[in-house]
Amino acid sequence: MSQQTKNLPQAEPTDGFSKSGFIISAVGSSVGLGNIWRFPYLTSQNGGAAFFLLFTLCLLLIGLPVLLAELAIGRGGRGNAASSFQKLSGKKAWGLFGLISVLGSLLIMSFYGVVTGWTLHYSVRSFTGFLNRQSDYAASFQSFTGSGYWPVFWEIIAMAITCWVVAKGISGGIEKFNKVLIPAMVVALLVLMVNALTLSGAKAGIDYFLKPDFSKLTPEAGLLALGHAFFSLSLGMGTMVTYGSYVNKRQSLKSASLAVVGGDLVYALICGLIIFPTSFTYGLESQQGPGLVFIVLPAAFHAMPFGAVLGGIFFVLLAIAALTSAVSMLEVPVAFAMEKWKWTRTKASVAITAVCVLLGVPAALSAEGPWKGYVWLGRTVFDWLDYTASNLLLPFGGLLVTLFAGYVWKTSSQEAELTPFWSRVWRWLLRYLAPVVIVLIFLYSAGLLRF
Ligand code: PFF
Repeated sequence: MSQQTKNLPQAEPTDGFSKSGFIISAVGSSVGLGNIWRFPYLTSQNGGAAFFLLFTLCLLLIGLPVLLAELAIGRGGRGNAASSFQKLSGKKAWGLFGLISVLGSLLIMSFYGVVTGWTLHYSVRSFTGFLNRQSDYAASFQSFTGSGYWPVFWEIIAMAITCWVVAKGISGGIEKFNKVLIPAMVVALLVLMVNALTLSGAKAGIDYFLKPDFSKLTPEAGLLALGHAFFSLSLGMGTMVTYGSYVNKRQSLKSASLAVVGGDLVYALICGLIIFPTSFTYGLESQQGPGLVFIVLPAAFHAMPFGAVLGGIFFVLLAIAALTSAVSMLEVPVAFAMEKWKWTRTKASVAITAVCVLLGVPAALSAEGPWKGYVWLGRTVFDWLDYTASNLLLPFGGLLVTLFAGYVWKTSSQEAELTPFWSRVWRWLLRYLAPVVIVLIFLYSAGLLRF
C-alpha cells in the first residue's frame, strides 16, 4: 500500500453502532461466562481481596491500554481484525499476524458455543420444574453431557441464535440484542446479589471471598490475574478491533474503554457476592467450572426459598452473558469473510456458524461426554481448544496489539484521543510494561517458565 493511501481518512462505516449501543455491546462482549465460573474460584484460591486488587491492577494498567489500543486500531483502520493492521501499517505481514486473532476467535467460539448451549438447556430446564425436584444434580449433569446428542443439539441452538443476531447486522442485530438483554441481565444480577446477601452464610462467604491474604500472592497469581483480565475483557481476539471499526469519530473511545473496564470489575465483584454466600449457606464445596455452575448451584437453589424462580433467573442470566459474548466472537470471522471474500453478511454468518458448529461437535462430545476418554498429552479435545485459544493465541494476539500501537502505528494516540501527557503514559505501558508481562504469561502458559 502506498504512503498516500495509508494516510487517506477512512470512510465512516455504513452500518455501525450508536453511541450507547457501542458501549452496551462492548460491555456485553466482556461480561460473559468467564467471571462467573473462573473468577470467584481464582480469587478464593489466590488470596481473596489481595487477588482482587491484583486483578484490578491488571485491568487498569494492562487491560485498559490494550483495550483502548484495539478500539483505536479498529476505528483507525476501518477494517476487520486482520486488515486494520495491514491498512494502518501498509505492511502485509501485519495483516497475516492479525489473522491469528481471527482464527483464535473461531476456536474460542467453537467451545464457547458448547457451554452456551448448556446454559440454554439449564434455563429451559429450570423453568420446567427441574430445581423443584430433589435430584442428584451431579448425575443429572453427567447424563445430559454424557448423552452425546443433547449437548450437540443445544450447541446448534446456541449457535443458531448467535448466527441470527450477527446476520441482522450491527445496528439492527448486535446492538439491538445487547440493548434488550444487558439491562435484563443487570436486573437479574441485582436480584440474585440482594438475595445472596440475605442468606445466613453471607458473612462467612464474603469473608472467604474478600479477606485479603497477601501470603497467597505468588507470581503465579499475578499471571492468573492477567490472563483472566485478558479473557474477561475479550482482548487479543480481534473482537474489540472489529467492534472499534463500527464506531464513528464522535464516539469517545476513552470513555467507552473506562465503561467496559469498570463494568467488568463490578460484574466480577457481584458474581463473587452471589456465589460465595450461596455456597457457604448451603455447605457446598466451592468449585469452579461446570461443577460449580451446573451441579453445586442447582443444589443450592433447590434448597433455598423461591429457589426455583431464583435458579431460573440465574440460568437465564448466564445464557444472556454467554450469548452477548458469543455474538462479539462470531462477528470477528464474519467481518473478515465479508471484507476478504466479499461475501454477504448472511452468507458469511451462516457459513462461519456451520464451521463453528462442526468444530464444536468434538468439543461437545469430549467435555464430560462420550469422548472424554480420548486424551492427548493429558487434555481432551475440549481442553485443547480452550488451552490453545485462551493460553496461546490470546496472549499472542494481545502482544501484537501492544507492539503495533506502541511501536508501529505512529498516530495511534491521536486516534485514541489522548492528551500529550496521557499519550506518553499510554505508550510507555504499551511499549514496556504490557509486552513484558504478556511474554511472561505466555511462557508460563506454554510451560516454559515455572516459579
Ligand atoms: N469476555 C468473555 C467472557 O468473559 O466470558 C469471553 C470472550 C469473549 C473472550 C470474546 C474473547 C472474545 F473475543
